[in-house]
Amino acid sequence: GGNAMAGEKYKDIVNVAHRGASGYAPEHTIASYQMGEKMHGDYIEIDLQMTKDGQLINMHDEKLDRTTDGTGLVRDFTLQQIKQLDAGTWFNEKYPQYADPEYAGLKVPTLEETFQTFGKNKSYYIETKSPDVYPGMEKELLRLINKYHINKEKLLVQSFSPQSLQIMHELDPSIKLVQLLSYKTNANITDAEIGEIKEYAVGVGPNYTYLNREYVQKVVKSGLEIHPYTVNDKETMVKLIDWGVTGMFTNFPDLLHEVKKGR
Ligand code: G3P
Ligand code: CA
Repeated sequence: GGNAMAGEKYKDIVNVAHRGASGYAPEHTIASYQMGEKMHGDYIEIDLQMTKDGQLINMHDEKLDRTTDGTGLVRDFTLQQIKQLDAGTWFNEKYPQYADPEYAGLKVPTLEETFQTFGKNKSYYIETKSPDVYPGMEKELLRLINKYHINKEKLLVQSFSPQSLQIMHELDPSIKLVQLLSYKTNANITDAEIGEIKEYAVGVGPNYTYLNREYVQKVVKSGLEIHPYTVNDKETMVKLIDWGVTGMFTNFPDLLHEVKKGR
């Protein structure tokens, strides 16, 4: 249903495959990113951590424990050590309904391997995680973006840390940035906050839980993009699109694709 304008609104919603299609495959594996592509995710979302020997790897947690068969902090292990780990079996055990024998033994990817696999014209949505734990991670990220000639028009770099984003902005003002935000109660954003964020970023990424229509419309009117995380059911997807969000993060990019097509 809906009129032509509403149809346009749905069509342009940015579908971010959060840690890949991580509802269906082990997060932050090449398999999960490939599934995200197949399910019409526009962006691959990547969280970065850094190894003892300074390599950027794709992992959400500072610790290896949840998503591999290893234990301890990423920063205490070399890439070679982390490459010994199994990043898929945990998923098969936790989600038997989506288990696939091919997931067993999958490796933790480096950012570099991800760029090599998907190429310079893929859309990447890369988060600097724990930037205070890994001084220099922004510089290393930028080195790899440049080494692989990543198309900066299609690239977004995100962080909860304004400092990390400001470092990126100073290193290369042409890189588009998104300020992540986390609300624990009714979301509210002042004109001053919007003004500060607009100094370096093109958008904000708030948790969807405490959002409201007024918040979304205020942000959109200011000219910022708004991509809430992490939206895993169609009802909430429809509600947020109705409020005016310009995209969203989801573990189930196929669901968001269906919502977009259904209009
Ligand atoms: O990057 C958007 C969203 O992923 C932020 O939360 O903890 O899942 O990285 P987190
Ligand atoms: Ca993230």
